[in-house]
Amino acid sequence: MVEGDRLRVLAVAGSLRQTSFNRALLHAAIELQPASMAIEIFDLEGLPLYNEDLEKQGDPERVTAWKSAIGAAEALLIACPEYNFGMSGVLKNAIDWGSRPPGKSNLIGKPTAIVGVSPGPGATRLAQIMTRQVLSALAVPVLPAPMFMLGQAADKFQDGRLVDERSRDLLGRLLRGLETWARRFAPLSVLS
Ligand code: FNR
Repeated sequence: MVEGDRLRVLAVAGSLRQTSFNRALLHAAIELQPASMAIEIFDLEGLPLYNEDLEKQGDPERVTAWKSAIGAAEALLIACPEYNFGMSGVLKNAIDWGSRPPGKSNLIGKPTAIVGVSPGPGATRLAQIMTRQVLSALAVPVLPAPMFMLGQAADKFQDGRLVDERSRDLLGRLLRGLETWARRFAPLSVLS
């Protein structure tokens, strides 16, 4: 349990790769979070592919854990890899499970910030825009600025740690912005 009134943030990376840059970005966020924030990472490993037949038999354990983690969080931080100019299937699948049951899901109205990193120059721009579009189906208020899109990842990380100072500053600003944003949108939780 988180002590005091630290903002509970659930962080999730749309990559299952051990050495994922996006997961590493979440670890940087933990390093840089304000004292008034408590970020916890949820690993999407083991979440099955969404299947309504499976759902009808009762949510698998990992799905229940995912939905409960969303419910317990006051805000989300999503690190979004880019695959073929869009979000990863891993992330879309997690959002699809998280969106259930329709109209009552824990995701509805949950204040969220999106970040992303890729080794190339595209910097996850298209994946992030797609993620915003998908989350709009759930009335999720996504932090509008600053946006955090990091390209040329190999130059910005060393041994899995974000070392680029400008990126660290920007990530710190984004986290402070998320805190203000989430506290502002707290009344939206009545939607869920
Ligand atoms: C990629 N990658 C990629 N990168 C990008 O900037 N734009 C893209 O459209 C794509 N497309 C793409 C498709 C597929 C199938 C793969 C496997 C990869 C590269 C991708 O950004 C890179 O693998 C990242 O390292 C993935 O994120 P993680 O795992 O490091 O978090």
